[in-house]
Amino acid sequence: MPGDFVRKPTADGSDTLYSSLLGEAYHSLNGSITESRHVFIEAGLYEHTHQHITIFEVGFGTGLNALLTWQSAVEKGLTIHYHSIEAFPLEPDLAKSLHFPQAAPALAPDALMRLHDAPWDQAVTLDSAFTLFKHKGDALTHTFEVNHDLVYFDAFSPDVQPELWEESFLKRLYDAMNQGGILVTYCAKGEVRRRLQRAGFNVERLPGPPGKREMLRARCQKGL
Ligand SMILES: C[S@@+](CC[C@H](N)C(=O)[O-])C[C@H]1O[C@@H](n2cnc3c(N)ncnc32)[C@H](O)[C@@H]1O
Repeated sequence: MPGDFVRKPTADGSDTLYSSLLGEAYHSLNGSITESRHVFIEAGLYEHTHQHITIFEVGFGTGLNALLTWQSAVEKGLTIHYHSIEAFPLEPDLAKSLHFPQAAPALAPDALMRLHDAPWDQAVTLDSAFTLFKHKGDALTHTFEVNHDLVYFDAFSPDVQPELWEESFLKRLYDAMNQGGILVTYCAKGEVRRRLQRAGFNVERLPGPPGKREMLRARCQKGL
C-alpha cells in the first residue's frame, strides 16, 4: 500500500497522484487545489477563530494541504503548528515533481520542496507563521502528545481504507482535540456522519467541492 502511482492533471490545472493498487486518486480529479481549498482551508481553517492554531492531518501525501495552510497562515497572520502523519511517504522526487500552480503566491517557490525535505519526527520551524511536525507512521497507532484545534481528515475513502473510518479511531481523534475544535473531511457518507456523531461530534453537512454534493464538518464540544 499504496502501490504504483501515476501523476495526473486535474480540472483546475493542478496535479494529483493516482494509485493503481487502490484505484483511487489523492484528490478530486475535478481539481486538487480547488478541493483542498474548499474542504480544508475554507470550511476548516477559516472557520476557526483563533490566531494560534494546532492542526493534525491524517495523510501528509503530496503536501498540498500543508502548502495551502502555510500560504493561508502567512496571508492571514496566523501562527500554525501543523502535525501530519504519513504511513507511506512518497519518493521525494515524485513529490517534488507535482505541479501546484498558484497554490502559494505568498511563499517562496521552493516551499513545497521544503515541506518534503523537512525531516520526519521532529518539529521544524519553516518561518514565523508555520511550524511543521511530520510523523512517520500509522495514524491508527499514533500517540497524541498535544491536543489539536483542527483535524484535516484526508485518508483514502472508506471503501478502500475502512479501518481509518471506524468509530474507534474517530473517537480517538475527538479525544485528542481541544474544546471548540473542528474536523473536516471531503467524505459525506451517512455512515461516517453517524460514526462521527457517536464519537461525540456535532456534525454539519456542507456543500462539497466541484463534483461532490456534500462534505462534512464536525465540531468538538466537550463538556457542554
Ligand atoms: C487521499 S491521500 C491524501 C494525502 C494528502 N493529504 C494530500 O493532500 O496529498 C491519503 C494519504 O493517507 C496516507 N495513509 C494511508 N493510510 C495511512 C495510515 N494508516 N496512517 C497514516 N497515513 C496513511 C496515504 O499514504 C496518503 O498519503
